[in-house]
Amino acid sequence: MKKWTDFSIDPYKMLKIQTVFHSVGSDKTCHNYERVYQHFLPDFAGHVLELGLANYSNGSNSIRAWPKLFPGCLTYGADWNTDRMVIEENIKTFLVDQGSPASLDDFITILGDTLFDVIVDDASHNFLNSCRTFVRLLPKLKSPGVYFVEDVARKENGWQQTVADWDNILPPFCSAIVDARPEIAGDVDSVMVCIWKP
Ligand SMILES: C[S@@+](CC[C@H](N)C(=O)[O-])C[C@H]1O[C@@H](n2cnc3c(N)ncnc32)[C@H](O)[C@@H]1O
Repeated sequence: MKKWTDFSIDPYKMLKIQTVFHSVGSDKTCHNYERVYQHFLPDFAGHVLELGLANYSNGSNSIRAWPKLFPGCLTYGADWNTDRMVIEENIKTFLVDQGSPASLDDFITILGDTLFDVIVDDASHNFLNSCRTFVRLLPKLKSPGVYFVEDVARKENGWQQTVADWDNILPPFCSAIVDARPEIAGDVDSVMVCIWKP
């Protein structure tokens, strides 16, 4: 596992990402994920997909971060909860259950030929769910493109996906497992998996 400080740091880009995440009520800043995104996010994205949209307060929804970071991008969101859906210009959301192979397969069919510059999995954080989602969605990632999985636990943490889980399947891919808060010993799940196509 790497630390976010092992990668190049652009303080301006990091502050911009942090400000945008905060403005939409995302919990990404609680994990300091702007530290990881600032290195791995491209400067331009035409299509972004995020799975797991909630912030559980009025009007806030992490899907709204992406058009702010990538003006003009077409943003797709997926969640299993109808309350998380957003209907806005340039934002399309879909009811998808990561725990159901059939639901994921239906979603893939709906996506058709659409390919994404950025895919973010911030949904159930269960390894089986995240893994089956990754296997299906990797072909939908553009080249170049980057796929993120949030909230990976440093070590065994009950139901939650762990660094060891991802370590087992990542070797064939260009990837990094990055701790966003290495300085906080008690923070168990602020680790992101980053997989990219060159
Ligand atoms: C951690 S919250 C997302 C936070 C948000 N992305 C942000 O940045 O603030 C997790 C979301 O995943 C959704 N979720 C949980 N299990 C899911 C599943 N099996 N399939 C799809 N969505 C799921 C929940 O409904 C919730 O909206």
